[in-house]
Amino acid sequence: MLSADLSDLPLFGDRAEDPSPGRHVDITGHLTNFANFGQRTLVERTESIPYFVNEFWTAGQRQSHSLHEVSYRACFKAQLPEFFIRLLTQPGDTVFDPFMGRGTTPIQAALMGRRPAGNDINPLSTLLTRPRLNPPSVAQVAERLSSIDWEDTGEQPDELLAFYHPATLARLSALQGWIAREAPVADASPDPVADWIRMVAINRLSGHSPGFFSGRSMPPNQAVSVKSQLRINEKLGVSPPPRDVIAIILKKTRTLLADGGMPEHPPHALMVGTADHTPEIADASIALVVTSPPFLDIVHYAADNWLRCWFAGIDVGAIDIAMHRTEAAWEAMVKGVLLEQARILKPGGHVAFEVGEVRNGKVLLERLVWQAAEDLPFDRLGVMVNAQVFTKTANCWGVSNGKSGTNTNRIVLLRRR
Ligand SMILES: C[S@@+](CC[C@H](N)C(=O)[O-])C[C@H]1O[C@@H](n2cnc3c(N)ncnc32)[C@H](O)[C@@H]1O
Repeated sequence: MLSADLSDLPLFGDRAEDPSPGRHVDITGHLTNFANFGQRTLVERTESIPYFVNEFWTAGQRQSHSLHEVSYRACFKAQLPEFFIRLLTQPGDTVFDPFMGRGTTPIQAALMGRRPAGNDINPLSTLLTRPRLNPPSVAQVAERLSSIDWEDTGEQPDELLAFYHPATLARLSALQGWIAREAPVADASPDPVADWIRMVAINRLSGHSPGFFSGRSMPPNQAVSVKSQLRINEKLGVSPPPRDVIAIILKKTRTLLADGGMPEHPPHALMVGTADHTPEIADASIALVVTSPPFLDIVHYAADNWLRCWFAGIDVGAIDIAMHRTEAAWEAMVKGVLLEQARILKPGGHVAFEVGEVRNGKVLLERLVWQAAEDLPFDRLGVMVNAQVFTKTANCWGVSNGKSGTNTNRIVLLRRR
């Protein structure tokens, strides 16, 4: 396992210094009585699993902090970890996501004064998360960008001209070389301004508007292949226009910092490796896990992130990203991950395990998670369904939801015994 940013480990793993034990909150009572958005919770038992259905957070709610505005395939909204962090932890508690993606959970934890911890098999996740836990000022970013020798370019694959004007590609090459020197991927505590610039650049590589370095492409979390980009160019009858790399990075920096920087928070711990094996984390040291794994083989994280990994110098083909075709294999993977969460959680600590709908609602992943947790040292509290559209006629959420056209998150709630 390649590890990053472990300088905080003595603190992170030290149970004695953790300010509060796991909190014993009556979460099912809270969900049952929840009516913040005018609806009463529908409580149903389906195949002996208690389901709690309501609009627990909503699109109309206050926007999440601007620091979250980084795109990533299959990320969850910040309101999801926020809900559980508020309910189940106190400032100073450690909140962890073993499949952190863009880092929604650790970023939200830090914004709420909790200790942010995260892991992902792809080192890209650390590059997206770490800089936002310690953002520089716009002036610092501008100053460093002006110090780069933009003529210092290296070899670039010609095929990238499908995405970039030659002048833009030359600038990206100079930027890539500068970042590799200032903030090598293997460095656990790189220069924070170069780290930030890399994170912003990764987010501007390709997209559908002039706010991106590429010509018109797909949304940034779904980088297309060179072949499909050539087809897009041909269909639109265009070739990529030149872009102002510095201006784009500064503009996105301003957007990310629009709500202010990151408040003081306990030191972070970010790891790279498989979710079922996180030996950097001490036993019984985590108050809350909020996470969402890959859903079977639905999302192709490697293909979606190839351009980002190219820019960062990560060999995405060498990463063993979880892809499970069968339900049995997926359930076994989840069991291994839950076993590791049982080790690292404090007694009374919680897991909020989010899954989505797959195979047109025919496979109910929350039931596989429920089964996977059966023999593990957890109390299985229920499945919470955050329903954007609430309808009482959908009387059996476990079955009918896939057909009702509603947009839901399903979250399996577990409490460590
Ligand atoms: C659904 S995404 C998580 C998104 C995250 N909740 C967010 O808001 O950005 C699943 C993540 O799991 C990662 N992943 C896949 N297999 C993994 C494994 N075996 N161990 C750890 N992470 C893995 C992928 O790289 C991807 O980032």
